[in-house]
Amino acid sequence: MTTLSISDLHWSPLGHGHCHHQFQLREINLQVRAGEFVGLIGPNGSGKTSLLRCAYRFNKPERGVVRLDEQDLWRQSPRWCAQRIAVVLQEFPDAFGLNVEEVVAMGRTPHKSLFEGDTDEDRQRVAAALQTVGLAGFDDHAFASLSGGEKQRVILARALVQQPHLLILDEPTNHLDPRYQLELLHQVRRLGVGTLASIHDLNLAAAFCDRLYVLDHGRIVASGTPTEVLTTDLLHDVFGVQALVDRHPLADHPRLTWITQR
Ligand SMILES: Nc1ncnc2c1ncn2[C@@H]1O[C@H](COP(=O)(O)OP(=O)(O)O)[C@@H](O)[C@H]1O
Ligand SMILES: [Mg+2]
Repeated sequence: MTTLSISDLHWSPLGHGHCHHQFQLREINLQVRAGEFVGLIGPNGSGKTSLLRCAYRFNKPERGVVRLDEQDLWRQSPRWCAQRIAVVLQEFPDAFGLNVEEVVAMGRTPHKSLFEGDTDEDRQRVAAALQTVGLAGFDDHAFASLSGGEKQRVILARALVQQPHLLILDEPTNHLDPRYQLELLHQVRRLGVGTLASIHDLNLAAAFCDRLYVLDHGRIVASGTPTEVLTTDLLHDVFGVQALVDRHPLADHPRLTWITQR
């Protein structure tokens, strides 16, 4: 079963697409199946963030359809989408003095009626999510006082308590040291929720993603398993880098080694 299905999507920043030299997403076809971890890769400015925004009903397509669980996102309410899609963005929200527990509890909001307080079940979910991201005991710390990596994990915990059908992550490992990069991606995989994530580190994408889509100048230029997609030719043509590609010695996925001049 397909969770997310994007068909023949076109989008441009100005909303009309009549400036031809300007950036546009064009002819985008992309699927995320239930439980699948799909990576979106591409150079800076290739359109990853723009496409993710189309997938969570922020950027409205000029053409084409974005479906979640067979429903056109733009025929559903924002609340319907918020009950099903959790988003972890590069920028952190302004937390206005909220503590960690309060920020995570915001993930329950789409499932509650106006003025409904937190229940014991909500509090248990928040505690479990903080445990999952390695921040048990941080409940009453001010969100603003945390390090970038800790904030990133709090936002992941907020996404977890939302119980989404689809998880969207925009460069989720950027603020994290190697240990937490690996832990975050492990945690996301273990959830078994359909996930679409933009990932800069191509070795991490190779290690964790079931499938990859490659964006270049607003178009998808390749898709498939990491083994199918991450070839020396693609790395040269799309990213402009020289690399050796072989197999990871301890795992069943490609390993990229950059060839640098110094
Ligand atoms: N709202 C916007 N207004 C103007 N330009 C935008 C807007 N959103 C994205 N762009 C432009 O679209 C291009 C793709 O950006 P983005 O989707 O952020 O790429 P990536 O995430 O792959 O780095 C960039 O040239 C960016 O400047
Ligand atoms: Mg981006």
